[in-house]
Amino acid sequence: MSGPAAAGGSAAGSGPDPRVPVVTIDGPSGSGKGTVSRLLVRHLGWHLLDSGALYRLVAHAGTLAGLAPDDEPGHARLALQMHVLFDPDATGEERIWLADRDVTAALREEAAGAGASRVAVWPAVRSALLARQHAAARPPGLIADGRDMGTVVFPQAQLKIFLTASPEERAQRRYKQLKEKDSSVSLAALSREIAERDRRDATRPVAPLVPASDAIVLDSTALDAAAVTERVLAHGRARGLWGVVA
Ligand code: DC
Repeated sequence: MSGPAAAGGSAAGSGPDPRVPVVTIDGPSGSGKGTVSRLLVRHLGWHLLDSGALYRLVAHAGTLAGLAPDDEPGHARLALQMHVLFDPDATGEERIWLADRDVTAALREEAAGAGASRVAVWPAVRSALLARQHAAARPPGLIADGRDMGTVVFPQAQLKIFLTASPEERAQRRYKQLKEKDSSVSLAALSREIAERDRRDATRPVAPLVPASDAIVLDSTALDAAAVTERVLAHGRARGLWGVVA
C-alpha cells in the first residue's frame, strides 16, 4: 500500500471498489507471503496492502501513546485515527511513517509482531482497520498480504492463495531475516515465539488464520520465493487475470 490513500481510512462500510481485481496472499509468519507479494507487485505493477504492518502500527502507536496493553477502545481509536504513510525512499526501499516518525525499523522487530498479534484479537481494532484496507484496492489491482484477506477483508477476491511452510522452515527464514540486523537473536526463542503467535492467530474467535474455502493452498517448504511467485502467476493467467506476458 503506498501513496496518499494509505494515509487515512475511507468512509466506513463503503467496501472495496468492485472494479479493482484483488489477489489475496494469506498465511502464517515465515510462509513467504511478504516476499511473494512484493515480487508479484513488482511484476504486475499493482498496489500492495501489507495488512500485518497495519496491526504492527496499531501496537506501536499504542506503546508510543502510553496506552495500557489491555486498552481495546484506546487501540481501536488509534487504528481509526493514526496518520500512516507507506512511502519508498530515494533508493526505492519501503519506508513506513507514523505521523512524522519513520517507524520502519521498529515495526520489523519481533516484538512489534508479537504486539500486533495481541491487538489483532480485538474485534474493535479489526473493524477499525477495515475501511483503510478496502481503500488500498485501487486500479490497476491489489495484492493483499495478511491472515484474513481472503476470508474477511476481500471475500470477493478473484484469486486467493494460502501459503504454508513447515514450522521449522518458517522459523529458519525469520531467523535469517532477523539475524542480518540483530546478532543476539536465537533460533530456539524464535521458534517458541512463532509457535505462540501461530496458536494465537489461528485460535482467536474473530478472523482466525484459516484458508478461505475457495483458496489455493501452496506449501512453500521446498520452494523459493521465485518459484512460488511463478505458480501464483500461472494461477492468475489460467483465470485470465493478467495477460500471457505476466
Ligand atoms: O504478517 P505480520 O507478521 O506482519 O503480522 C503481524 C501480526 O498481525 C500477526 O501475528 C497477526 C496480525 N495480523 C492479523 O491478525 N491479520 C492480518 N490480516 C495481518 C496480520
